[in-house]
Amino acid sequence: MKDKPQPNELMIDRLREISSWVSSVLDLDNLLELIIDSVTRLMEAKASSLLLLDQKTGKLYFKVTLGEKKEEVRKFEISLGQGIAGIVAETGEPLLINDVTKDPRWDKEISETIGFQTRSIACVPMKIEGHTIGVVEIIDKEDGSPIQKEDMKILSVFAELASMAIHNARMISQVKKENLDLREELGRKHRIIGESQGLKKVITDALKVANSRTSTLLLGESGTGKELLARLIHHAGPRKDKPMIVLNCAALPETLLEAELFGFEKGAFTGATTRNIGKFELADGGSIFLDEIGEMAPGMQAKLLGVLQEGVFYRIGGSSPISVDVRVISATNRDVVKDVQDGRFREDLYYRLNVVQIHMPALRERKSDIPLICAHFLNLFKEEMGLPNLKISQPAMDKMLNYDWPGNVRELRNAIERAVVMGNGQEVLPEDLPIRSIKKSYPGLEAGLSLREAEDRFKKQFIVTTLRHTSGNRSKAAKIMGIQRTYLSRLISKYELQGA
Ligand SMILES: Nc1ncnc2c1ncn2[C@@H]1O[C@H](COP(=O)(O)OP(=O)(O)OP(=O)(O)O)[C@@H](O)[C@H]1O
Ligand SMILES: [Mg+2]
Repeated sequence: MKDKPQPNELMIDRLREISSWVSSVLDLDNLLELIIDSVTRLMEAKASSLLLLDQKTGKLYFKVTLGEKKEEVRKFEISLGQGIAGIVAETGEPLLINDVTKDPRWDKEISETIGFQTRSIACVPMKIEGHTIGVVEIIDKEDGSPIQKEDMKILSVFAELASMAIHNARMISQVKKENLDLREELGRKHRIIGESQGLKKVITDALKVANSRTSTLLLGESGTGKELLARLIHHAGPRKDKPMIVLNCAALPETLLEAELFGFEKGAFTGATTRNIGKFELADGGSIFLDEIGEMAPGMQAKLLGVLQEGVFYRIGGSSPISVDVRVISATNRDVVKDVQDGRFREDLYYRLNVVQIHMPALRERKSDIPLICAHFLNLFKEEMGLPNLKISQPAMDKMLNYDWPGNVRELRNAIERAVVMGNGQEVLPEDLPIRSIKKSYPGLEAGLSLREAEDRFKKQFIVTTLRHTSGNRSKAAKIMGIQRTYLSRLISKYELQGA
């Protein structure tokens, strides 16, 4: 028992250090050196090295080398099956050779070239999930005594540590890469396409406000890309690594909206079984996107104004003030100035949100962007559907250029998607596009009617046209027309359009 090397205090400290590093993986190169240095001292070896297998070339290269000739050794590469290290890497089995000069497996080239006397070698494989990724080897003891079988166990433990470190580092870099790929993919999907003057101005303005905390109000018809623009503002600014939290103010009744925005404490109301963090808190350090702000109920408008003025709020049922650092981006497709005039939207809140206003132009006001946007969506859907040769025919393009696009880019996107799915796979034809050329006739435009009658005729025809366009979908039609669905239903009853 006496001749077994006892790990001393220093070694135990070293092991502790290594194990804490293995789990944090700060710097793989340093960690591997530390591991090899520790095992070399523990074994009192003359030289040691860690070799890794390059998957592409199938050769082993020296990752860490210690000993008198460590610089020279590093220049060599070893083929699988060549010499002791090559054989261990190939078979995945450890080898202990006490006198290499008597062993035909030894490849003396390296030792002779660098002028390093070698007698005994111990070499163990490093494995990740059963696959050999490299080897660790030590050469000769400093006192000239032979390397023992027992030493192999220690060497194996260190080789295992090194494999774990490498495995962790590879996994982390893989996750990082996947993350980057995903971001790139997201970036591609969320790119704002267009080169018209109108859109360029919008993007320049957005990039200017991105660098500040200024509250920004985005206006524009439905489907013009307001949400896309909000994301651009968030991602182009210094808050890009913090969250952008989206809240659709039209989707929830007032009480739920309040709970969503500010969160609540456990027991704040029936059903509040746990504490819930609100969106304002989640967005701390980042941005909150209040979509369809024009639909926010008056009570809620007052509460939101309070938060924006004070900079603090309380969770529902909570008594500690919570302060957050959030940039507010809001959007609406309503005529918010008119809503302010009509008393539907608080003027003071409007001024708070509207420090900078950006107006997204409707697609019909920038028709020159249609070919670019078409190409963008065609590429997207072509890829998804595996139709690499699909093109847009000139008549189909003409039809799109002549159309008014009440649903803007969203409608264009849907039209292209439908055409890709339903078309012949070679060429998009006009009939593949779910849009109608607009007849330029004006119902109600005739003498002898009262203004009210003329308006009614126009409204009736307008609703029929829009409903046809949405294949009878009332929610979509209401959205395109910028009115509430319930109001649309009332109009449909009034004009007896139930069959439309
Ligand atoms: N310039 C653009 N380039 C590429 N895609 C766009 C562009 N504008 C809008 N889109 C796409 O059109 C769709 C609608 O955009 P978005 O949701 O941003 O519109 P919105 O203005 O928020 O509409 P709504 O008022 O109805 O909520 C999305 O799929 C978006 O990716
Ligand atoms: Mg939107």
